[in-house]
Amino acid sequence: MSDLVRFSVSVERPLFERLESLVCQSGYENRSEYVRDLIREKLVEKEWKAGEEAIGTITLVYNHHLRQLSDRLAKVQHHHHEHILAVTHVHLDHDYCVEAILIRGKAEEIRHIADELRREKGVFHAGLTMSTTGKHLS
Ligand code: NI
Repeated sequence: MSDLVRFSVSVERPLFERLESLVCQSGYENRSEYVRDLIREKLVEKEWKAGEEAIGTITLVYNHHLRQLSDRLAKVQHHHHEHILAVTHVHLDHDYCVEAILIRGKAEEIRHIADELRREKGVFHAGLTMSTTGKHLS
């Protein structure tokens, strides 16, 4: 672990109280842990804005009965196979499927793959979660 640095921050009391409430609601053991994670969130956002190599998860919800939708989604994924780390498919019920696709690549490549999948007719929801390779976070 790197050296710890202590620093003080001045904020208005209402803002401080909201921070305390967030720390408490999130179940963090202390404020420092919470603030560390806030900083990391910002660093991940910055990595994505800078177009650096990143990790993303796309979550797709769709009805597999719709015209060859499963095939069309698989075709997009095969086209980008070098970026796709893993795919988990779950049959939610008789009609609906959810697929979680873990992707590694430049931020814009991940966004591009998410957009290609999202615009296939029959996809009800496509969520993109931004994460990081962790290289620049320690
Ligand atoms: Ni299914």
